Amino acid sequence: MAFETGSRPGIFIARKVFPEVVARLGEHFDVEMNDTDHVLSPEQLAQRLQGRVGVLTTGSERVDAALLAACPELKIVANIAVGYNNFDMAAINAAGVLATNTPDVLTETTADFGFALLMATARRLTESEHFLRAGQWNRWSLDMFAGAEVHGSTLGILGMGRIGQAIARRGAHGFGMNVIYHNRSRLDGALEAECKARYVDKAELLRCADHLMLVLPYSPESHHSIGAAEIAQMKPSATLINIARGGIVDDAALAHALREKRIAAAGLDVFEGEPKVHPDLLTVPNVVLTPHIASATLGTRMAMAMLAADNVIAYLTQGKALTPLNP
Ligand code: DGY
Repeated sequence: MAFETGSRPGIFIARKVFPEVVARLGEHFDVEMNDTDHVLSPEQLAQRLQGRVGVLTTGSERVDAALLAACPELKIVANIAVGYNNFDMAAINAAGVLATNTPDVLTETTADFGFALLMATARRLTESEHFLRAGQWNRWSLDMFAGAEVHGSTLGILGMGRIGQAIARRGAHGFGMNVIYHNRSRLDGALEAECKARYVDKAELLRCADHLMLVLPYSPESHHSIGAAEIAQMKPSATLINIARGGIVDDAALAHALREKRIAAAGLDVFEGEPKVHPDLLTVPNVVLTPHIASATLGTRMAMAMLAADNVIAYLTQGKALTPLNP
């Protein structure tokens, strides 16, 4: 990609990132960052992008036709996330802009967190901690906070991409779980054998899972994949874990089902309309709630931001990004 001799193309970083990432970009570009760590409004973002050829975004910034029309010099939008439902890909393609995401670098960390949330939910970790902190613990008793078994139980996985597979491996090899999964397409036999996972249809997944883990991308097709009708098919003893995206679960229906003990418990890292959380979820005890932190270790967040920066550098200096979404 050719730039005028002597000019340093401008890059904007929409959210605060590590100094090492700014420094790496600074070797090639004139870099400006939103260091307030507040999410910019679409108007503020468009204004900050004037004259800039690249931007690092997170899932909180929407890249759509309006933004692209307001920023005609933009050549690359690099998401610091593997999910990219904040990107309107049709508009990005139509504008001739390259989009990238950050696959692979967060797979194992996110799968670790999926398991942490599953175990916290099944074994009622936050509920029992609140009880203790509130000074309510005055005796040991046999059935106090008795939860659901994890080892040897049936783990259902909806969405079997890289993270789904990493969760399947943990479940099958680490906890001796019987792993079943449903996905748009079935894994090849070798991968199924390695993950010790059996393909089932969605009805069987809902009916048989003791713990149902959601790991599918958000799209209009996956909107409310789990609502009242699906929850009604699950075991009353089951748990539901969502580390994928808000909107895949109908949060109002889930809160109702939890209150009615239609399923035993849920663990949620993502929410419809986050950072807002459905108020009913905040008042039911049998749900573990975390603020979209599944990939949040310092090492992984650094790797994600570095990969986004390297995508910008590779594309703008050599014409080829490392992890493009629209080659
Ligand atoms: C991702 O990478 O998609 C995570 O959800 C962080 O946004």
